[in-house]
Amino acid sequence: MKADEIRRMAAEQNAVILAHNYQRPEVQDIADVVGDSLELAIKAKETTADVIVFCGVDFMAETAKILNPGKRVLLPVREATCPLAEALTPEMVREARSRHPGAAVVLYVNSTAECKAEADITCTSANAVGVVRSLEEEEILFGPDANLGCYVQRMVPEKRIIPLPPGGHCPVHQRFSLDDVKQGRERGDAVVCHPECPPEVQQASDLIASTGGMVREAGGHPRWTVLTDAAMTYRLSREFPGGVFHPVEGAECEDMKLTTIDDVLHALRTGEYNVEVDADIAARARRAIERMIAIRR
Ligand code: 13P
Ligand code: SF4
Repeated sequence: MKADEIRRMAAEQNAVILAHNYQRPEVQDIADVVGDSLELAIKAKETTADVIVFCGVDFMAETAKILNPGKRVLLPVREATCPLAEALTPEMVREARSRHPGAAVVLYVNSTAECKAEADITCTSANAVGVVRSLEEEEILFGPDANLGCYVQRMVPEKRIIPLPPGGHCPVHQRFSLDDVKQGRERGDAVVCHPECPPEVQQASDLIASTGGMVREAGGHPRWTVLTDAAMTYRLSREFPGGVFHPVEGAECEDMKLTTIDDVLHALRTGEYNVEVDADIAARARRAIERMIAIRR
């Protein structure tokens, strides 16, 4: 069986398989750790494995490589990217900084290594509020997700969040609407949404959480409509077998679904695709990521 072969090869190579909560169920099943961006970044920093197979999208594997320059980090599908991360360029960050010289730059981990190298600190959806609260600066350039920026602004009203770029969003989460919330309620569900959803959806939901936060908090209610990638409902059903979790049809991050267990097997057999980050960029990005990890949540 392919799953047995993957486990055997991973043990032989001292490889750890990390998978994001949006990965296909069969990929989640063969992983050593399934988690949100923050949990996986922490795991990548702490692992004693020689090889990290990152089942997710490129910025996640890049983050793992930046934290472990001496380890081999494999991204099984090279084309697995994140359109939100690609909406921001380092030039845009530098230009915004020159217009707001007193502001701190907080970048969501869903950004390129080149952008992270320009940041003061990174954040994930699990710790964005804590990261912003930890800063002395009152003005915060925050990007590239403006909806997450709105969420942070509501939670930390004493700061001034300046979105970078204005209107940056994830195409998967931007599509959720008040209608999805209404349909959930009509089924008798509580509604949980990811903070990448539009502000009006956040405000109408019962819970706003990172994908890891959903795992931690979904035990509090027996039925949920889950406003994020549909694969999250597989993860939640595994954690809470008695719970009922409704996805929204068609809510899928295509990039997250590119990786199959054949690709994981291929990565272990061939060492493809080896993630490389320029040493100077990695050193600058590492400071911003490690500063975030020191804060955790
Ligand atoms: P989490 O950090 O909540 O897992 O989110 C990552 C992501 O890409 C959401 O679209
Ligand atoms: Fe990027 Fe959105 Fe996919 Fe998350 S769900 S990886 S933010 S495109």
